[in-house]
Amino acid sequence: MTKKKIVTLPGDGIGTEIMDSALNILAEASKKFNFAYEVESFPFGGAGIDLEGEPLSEKTLTACQQADAILLGAIGGPKWEQAEKTPEQGLLQLRKALGLFANVRPIRVPEAIVHLSPLKEEIVKGSDFVVVRELTGGIYFGTPRKLEDDFALDTCPYSGEEIRRIVKKAFEMARNRKKKVTSVDKSNVLATSKLWRKITEEVAKDYPDVTLEHQLVDSAAMKIITQPAYYDVIVTENLFGDILSDEASVITGSLGMLPSASHSENGPSLYEPIHGSAPDIAGKNIANPMSMILSVTMMLRESFDQHEMAEYLEKICDEVMIAGILTGDLGGKATTSDFEEAVIQKIKG
Ligand code: NAD
Ligand code: IPM
Ligand code: MN
Repeated sequence: MTKKKIVTLPGDGIGTEIMDSALNILAEASKKFNFAYEVESFPFGGAGIDLEGEPLSEKTLTACQQADAILLGAIGGPKWEQAEKTPEQGLLQLRKALGLFANVRPIRVPEAIVHLSPLKEEIVKGSDFVVVRELTGGIYFGTPRKLEDDFALDTCPYSGEEIRRIVKKAFEMARNRKKKVTSVDKSNVLATSKLWRKITEEVAKDYPDVTLEHQLVDSAAMKIITQPAYYDVIVTENLFGDILSDEASVITGSLGMLPSASHSENGPSLYEPIHGSAPDIAGKNIANPMSMILSVTMMLRESFDQHEMAEYLEKICDEVMIAGILTGDLGGKATTSDFEEAVIQKIKG
């Protein structure tokens, strides 16, 4: 088997800490499953600014374009808020340059860890859905954009094709799941949402086996947290998907539990936690590495067809959590390294 080429962009804050843990775990598990890969790390985000004067250098972008898959930790922090080009702008530039329009954010709560959620167990039980977030369009990228002393403007454009391809992706995913798509919009107000709804109805005609329903984003935000087990595939535009997925992380117990995969039409996919660099806990070795480990398992499945290895890793991570080895965000006292070590010991048997 030829070695798979993984490019890592650890980034800033806890990004570097959870990346280290996840890579050490991947290294150990790979021995067991004979998975051959090589890893090369590149500066990105604030680290890119510090080392190369910009968040996304030509060299880092080229390496990403040539990779079989990309793992990203997290970027950003107070140090770079005033930078000429911020880490966040670098992240948006990377997503756009790689054409990563489909961001998949799964929310899964295995029965044995429902008690870790701050929500009532009977509400959390059975929750298993994905947020399919459009990632390269909408208000994040629209122009004109203006920031003046006493006036500001953002623009939210969506073309029919941008909507069609992400909605198709959601229907394809639903076909292999519980066959229900919930499209979330604000069509009672926004023009882009009216188009979104129309295109979604058109796409649905090609998927008679999948049920489609529409929900307005404000009440959807309520229902996601009161009836999470109701959902299967939620598809929505860039900004709504950003907000709803952080909200949905509460169902699992912590923002530090949620991974994501971003796919393009045909280039390499990128895998990253949904959270940020967590400046409030950075450098303390207390971040929850689950979001990064699960990003690795998504990579193993979706880029490398290593389903058995992915399932195995998820199972032992669940076991470690059930055994009570939990980081602070989940109410425990374990450090990032404690968690990593416990997983590695289990792999070693
Ligand atoms: P954040 O996601 O970094 O943190 C929010 C809260 O969740 C914090 O209290 C943090 O400690 C906690 N948290 C997040 N991940 C955790 C983990 N793995 N384990 C334990 N606790 C965890 O959001 P923020 O504080 O609003 O943003 C901080 C910086 O991160 C900003 O610069 C922002 O732009 C950036 N950001 C980057 C990404 C990315 O790299 N994809 C995503 C979101 C935010
Ligand atoms: C995310 C983050 C980014 C986004 C920021 C850092 C630009 O919040 O990946 O969810 O809004 O997409
Ligand atoms: Mn976000």
